[in-house]
Amino acid sequence: MKDGKHITMGIESSCDETAIAVVADGREILSNVISSQISIHTQYGGVVPEIASRHHLNNIPHVFSQSLEEAGVTLDEVDEIGVTAGPGLAGALLMGTAFAKAVAMAADKPLVGVHHIQGHIMANLIEHPDLKPPFLALVVSGGHTHLVEVRGYNEFKILGATRDDAVGEAYDKVARVLGLGYPGGPKIDALAKEGDKKAIEFKRVYLERDSLDFSFSGTKTGVINYLHSEEQRGHQVNRADVAASFQEAVIEVISNKALRALEMTGYDGLAVAGGVACNSALRARLTQMCEKAGKKIDIPSPILCTDNGVMIAAAAYHKAQEGHFTGLRLDVWPGLNMETGLGKLEV
Ligand code: KG4
Ligand code: ZN
Repeated sequence: MKDGKHITMGIESSCDETAIAVVADGREILSNVISSQISIHTQYGGVVPEIASRHHLNNIPHVFSQSLEEAGVTLDEVDEIGVTAGPGLAGALLMGTAFAKAVAMAADKPLVGVHHIQGHIMANLIEHPDLKPPFLALVVSGGHTHLVEVRGYNEFKILGATRDDAVGEAYDKVARVLGLGYPGGPKIDALAKEGDKKAIEFKRVYLERDSLDFSFSGTKTGVINYLHSEEQRGHQVNRADVAASFQEAVIEVISNKALRALEMTGYDGLAVAGGVACNSALRARLTQMCEKAGKKIDIPSPILCTDNGVMIAAAAYHKAQEGHFTGLRLDVWPGLNMETGLGKLEV
């Protein structure tokens, strides 16, 4: 039942989640189906690209049917189909885009290619209806760490980016050396609650004065070196203290840089996005920091921070409203640039 609503389907398959959602008027979630492959990749200590593609291939038809069924809409009632075109794993992206093209062709629906990170940012629009561009966004995901000026629904300016590891990547690598398994972020989050965040002073890298870029590899290497030297000395390592101290170093840098970006740009609030935005300590610190600075803060619920179809539908809805369709020429770009987006491919 459509009830005069504008219906968008969002398809996400850039990594290890096969996700399809149906959203009404760009903000109301009608369904949000996520088939996670985490338990499969855990055995290998990280995402295996070919295995991810094969699982997308098997899962996507079921996820698609379930998303329509739960939403209570027919494919005929869908106004446009949004799909992640990059960045991500090439083979995984191909599964989602090939499926989206097939559905768009069969049902004669317009297709909107979406930048995965733009999608993460747009997840904020779902639970924060007052949020409209321009605004400042902090992206903390497995592959990206960005401070971004969202100038419009299809216009993004990167103010700062990581020069080495993304924050989620650093979490996952530190978790691996601590023997916590994949994905490491949630495990460090939980273990850090039992540790002392002041126990070990790991490196905080701020780069040049007023730089909004990030660098986490020195902090990560500091953890690895600490573990090796403690082992060589025959000391018993308190893993909870290591987790808490590593997390504290990372959160301190992220929150200070986000605050500096707010001061430099003059925006009245911060929208946070990406899988690491699930982190309980980061959420608390950013909230506290914004309250103290008299700034607003928007952080999506955890289920909308990790990869999902809702964020792709939200981004696609706004792109479609502004007439940015990709059509069947859509390709995939594993390293798709956020500022240029899909550029000339949009018709
Ligand atoms: O945004 P996302 O789902 O995928 C990318 O676009 O990369 O982010 C996945 C990342 C992983 O590195 C994972 O360890 C991290 O988000 N993550 C967390 C937490 N939950 C997920 N990191 C820290 N604390 C968490 N609670
Ligand atoms: Zn993501």
